[in-house]
Amino acid sequence: MSLKVVTTCQAFVDTGREALADLISGGCEFGGLTGAGPLSGLELEQAIGDADAFIADLDRINAGTLAAAPRLKLVSRWGVGYDAIDLAAATAAGVIVTNTPGVLDETVADLTFALLLGVARGIHTGHAAMLAGRWEREWKSDVHHKTLGIVGCGRIGTEVARRAKGFNMRVIAYDRFPKEPARAMGVEFVPLEELLQQADFVSLHAAVTPESRGMIGAAQLRAMKRSAFLVNTSRGALVDEAALAAALNAGEIAGAALDTFQVEPLAGNHPLRTAKNVLLTPHMASLTSDNGRRISEAAVQAVTDLAAGRAPQNVVNRDVLTSSALRARLTA
Ligand code: GLV
Repeated sequence: MSLKVVTTCQAFVDTGREALADLISGGCEFGGLTGAGPLSGLELEQAIGDADAFIADLDRINAGTLAAAPRLKLVSRWGVGYDAIDLAAATAAGVIVTNTPGVLDETVADLTFALLLGVARGIHTGHAAMLAGRWEREWKSDVHHKTLGIVGCGRIGTEVARRAKGFNMRVIAYDRFPKEPARAMGVEFVPLEELLQQADFVSLHAAVTPESRGMIGAAQLRAMKRSAFLVNTSRGALVDEAALAAALNAGEIAGAALDTFQVEPLAGNHPLRTAKNVLLTPHMASLTSDNGRRISEAAVQAVTDLAAGRAPQNVVNRDVLTSSALRARLTA
């Protein structure tokens, strides 16, 4: 089956040259970048209206979007998080949704650890002072032998734990389903309240679900040590950002290093930009050239699998595979 493929993902265009060749040799047609994601509403509907498959950024996909794309059979998410996609709506509409787990864990863990080290040792403030022509030296916090608390200890959290162990840290974790690979590495699973009280660094790696949305609010920030730092490379939606800015300014925690935000790009006048001791980066945890190539290849693999009549590997709405709605889209 020949599929017309479009994307809103600039990262795919930047890193997907080899993957694109696979797409073409897999018999697909590439319609190019039809919008600069993340998109939503009418813009997104126009970007994917005549596509069979869509390599998606963090676009907001709902029932309306899918109804406006009658030929669409596959949303191949360039990355792991699919919280911007209404999965139930995709299943009902007969559209397969895939993601790219496993290829980016270490790259994201590297940036997480860089942020943790940076905010603890004040690399961001030292750098800013140097650029401004000043020579200022401050007393900062150790990382080695401190306690790291990982919230959501799946693949990425486990890679962060591995790095922390190399720094002689104690690693505790909270996860609704404690994972064996992390336990085997010496990670202790504890309730969230305990983690917040004990950790010198709290690093978030949970997916956004109705239960986890806003899980770090004013009460959780107050439960943390005043000397502790928050690191977030997962999703901004896990955190009440107004409460975080207030906690930083009131000195309730020592600092925060954030790569993800509730609304991206982060508004120029957002209170987190001027909060005390923040290290901010623009959702770049996955952005290395090697990782981009890996993700692009995985995202294309889902498309070429479908084009070859195979079920793609990382389907996140598996019920769709046996649905009559998908059959109808495939045979239309
Ligand atoms: C990045 O945020 C991803 O979802 O992979």
